[in-house]
Amino acid sequence: MNQAPVGVFDSGVGGLSVLAEIRRLLPNESLLYVADSGHVPYGEKTPEQIRARSQAIAGFLLEQGAKALVLACNTATVAAINDLRGLYDLPIIGMEPAVKPAALATRNGVVGVLATTGTLQSAKFAALLDRFAQSVKVVTQPCPGLVECIERGELEGPAVEALLRRYTEPLLAAGCDTLILGCTHYPFVRPALQRLLPASVRLIDTGAAVARQLQVRLGETGLLSGEAGVATRFWTSADPQSMATILPLLWGEGGKVERLPV
Ligand code: SIN
Repeated sequence: MNQAPVGVFDSGVGGLSVLAEIRRLLPNESLLYVADSGHVPYGEKTPEQIRARSQAIAGFLLEQGAKALVLACNTATVAAINDLRGLYDLPIIGMEPAVKPAALATRNGVVGVLATTGTLQSAKFAALLDRFAQSVKVVTQPCPGLVECIERGELEGPAVEALLRRYTEPLLAAGCDTLILGCTHYPFVRPALQRLLPASVRLIDTGAAVARQLQVRLGETGLLSGEAGVATRFWTSADPQSMATILPLLWGEGGKVERLPV
């Protein structure tokens, strides 16, 4: 049993969708969350820039006493998780687009993936396709601009809907019956997507699976918390007041947001 907190970070507020799954599954864990919103979107950055930010944030979370890290960001996972695992001896969990569940769920064998260019062009994504998507057709779609809308707390309305329409149209035209939300920001626009898409199209993301993986790793390493944790702490590299304003919308309750010192 271990009362130390779990550190979770993302390029911005998108990882709150993963944090919510962790809180649901592991209510006794104390949680630390870093939104690197001063450097969002990671999808437009080089792997070297993302690795540098990820190392700075991981170092900060370890200074705060984190017993495990969750990279609640697909783009940071492909760029930085191997380096972080080489640097730190603690459980480090990352994201990956839900290719396997989508390949199992599709009824017509055509799967769409919405993600950043960084994720879609990565060797990790190519390996996932090789491993789990041999028997299905996969159509990919980067979504520039969508993360920025979600960072502003804009989850519906004409601007978001226009982007969603633009990015899902090619996938629908290709016949996709299953769409992977391959960025942790996108679950926040799931309701808007569902209104736009035919009811037969399934949306799949990996937040709940990552929470289960964290539970397994904490269990294996004797790090699960046995008692109720303390309130979640939040940091951002952008304006703390702006994040505090949208926190109730994305996290379901308000909270103090501190400025990230790295
Ligand atoms: C981004 O910052 O571009 C999105 C990161 C992600 O892949 O979750």
